[in-house]
Amino acid sequence: MATLFKNIKELIQVRKESISFVSGKDMNQLPTIKNAFLVVENGLIADYGAMNDCPKNDFSEVIDATGKMILPTWCDSHTHIVYAGNREGEFIDRIKGLTYEEIANRGGGILNSAKKLQETSEENLYEQSKVRLEEVMQLGTGAVEIKSGYGLTVDAELKMLRVIKRLKENYPIEIKATFLGAHAIPEAYKELKNDYLQLLINEALPKIKNENLAEYIDIFCETGYFSVEDTQLMLEAGKQYGLIPKIHVNQFTTIGGVQVGVKHHALSVDHLEEMSDEDINTLKNTKTMPVALPSCSYFLSIPYAPARKMIDAGLPLALATDYNPGSTPSGNMNFVVSTACIKMKMTPEEAINAATINGAYAMGLENKVGSISKGKRANLMLTKPINSYGVIPYSFGTNQIESVFINGVKI
Ligand code: NIG
Ligand code: FE
Repeated sequence: MATLFKNIKELIQVRKESISFVSGKDMNQLPTIKNAFLVVENGLIADYGAMNDCPKNDFSEVIDATGKMILPTWCDSHTHIVYAGNREGEFIDRIKGLTYEEIANRGGGILNSAKKLQETSEENLYEQSKVRLEEVMQLGTGAVEIKSGYGLTVDAELKMLRVIKRLKENYPIEIKATFLGAHAIPEAYKELKNDYLQLLINEALPKIKNENLAEYIDIFCETGYFSVEDTQLMLEAGKQYGLIPKIHVNQFTTIGGVQVGVKHHALSVDHLEEMSDEDINTLKNTKTMPVALPSCSYFLSIPYAPARKMIDAGLPLALATDYNPGSTPSGNMNFVVSTACIKMKMTPEEAINAATINGAYAMGLENKVGSISKGKRANLMLTKPINSYGVIPYSFGTNQIESVFINGVKI
C-alpha cells in the first residue's frame, strides 16, 4: 500500500537532517526540490527526490501533481477552538468605538464566553468544536494545539479538556491540549484572585493529571488579568503535575511575562504584540519559541508582533491563528501566512518556516510533522497550479490549497 505523487512542480520544506526549528537568517532559507516525486507508505513519508530518480514500483495509487506544489500541512500551535457560541455583538460594539478592554471591563470578553460555555452541555460543545476543527483541517492545518480557558470553573474547565480529548480520539491530526484555567478572573472571584488560583491548583490540576487531560499549562499574563507573580505560581504548580508552560504574554503591555516564561523553560511565549529590547534579548539562545498571532492584531486593530526586529536579532518565530470567539474568530493559517508577509514584512520563506517547522516545535511535534522528511507523517498540502510558492501568501483571501492529505489520506 504505497502512494506516489509524481511530477510535483516544487516540493517545499524538504529537510534531510532533523532540525528542531529555524531561527534568524536561516528562517529565510526554504529548501525545496523542483520537479519532484514523493512516496507515502503506512501514512508516513517513505521517500522523495527528483523525478529522474522516481522509483518504478507498482504503486496502489499514483497522483499526478503536474503544475502543483506540495508542502507539509500548517502547524497551528495556538488556538482556542473549543468554545460555545460567537461574540459578534462585541464585534459590532468595537466597530462603534468601544475598545476590547472596555468590553471586557463591562463583563463581556472572556467572561461572556465563559457564561455561554458553562451553560452548554459537553455533547453540544463537542459538536460545535468539531465543525471548527474540520474547517481548519480543510484549510490545511495538520497539527493543532487547543486550550481550555472559557470554563473558569473546575467543572467547566474539565468539560473543555474532555472535549479536546474526544477530538484527539476521533480525528487523525495531531492535537495537543493546554490547561488555561487562568485565562480571566471569574466574576465570583473578582476580589479573590488568589482563591481562584488556589482552586485551579488544588482541585483542577490533580483531576487533569488523573484523567491525563493536558500536556501544557497556560496563563494570560497581562495587566488587569494575571501578574508575573501569578504566572510564576501557576507555572510552578503545573510543573508539579508534569505540564509544560506555553503562555500568553505581551499582548497589550510588557510586564515581565517573557522573562518568567524563559525562566520556567516555557516551550513558547505567545502574542508578543508589545516587545521591549529587553524582551528580545531575554529570548536569545533559549529553547523558548516566540509565537506571533497576526490575525489577532488584524481583528483587534492592535500592533503586530515586531517580527522583523525579532528575526533580525537572530530569534526564531512561529506563526499561529489564536482561533477564538473574541480576538480572532478565524482559524485560517493561509491568512496568517499572508498577513505575516503583508503586515509584519516577513518573506514567504520566513512565514512558511514559521507556520510549519517552528509551529511544530511550539507543540513538541518537530519529530512528527512540519517538514518533508522521511519517517514524518504524510500530512501534506497539494496546491492548485501556481507559478511560485510566493503566490500562497500573495493571493490573500484566496486559498491556493487544492487538497489536504492527513497520514497520506485525502480528507
Ligand atoms: O489569545 N488574550 C487572551 N485570550 C485570547 C482571547 C480571549 C477572548 O477575547 O475571548 C487571545 O487573544
Ligand atoms: Fe490565545
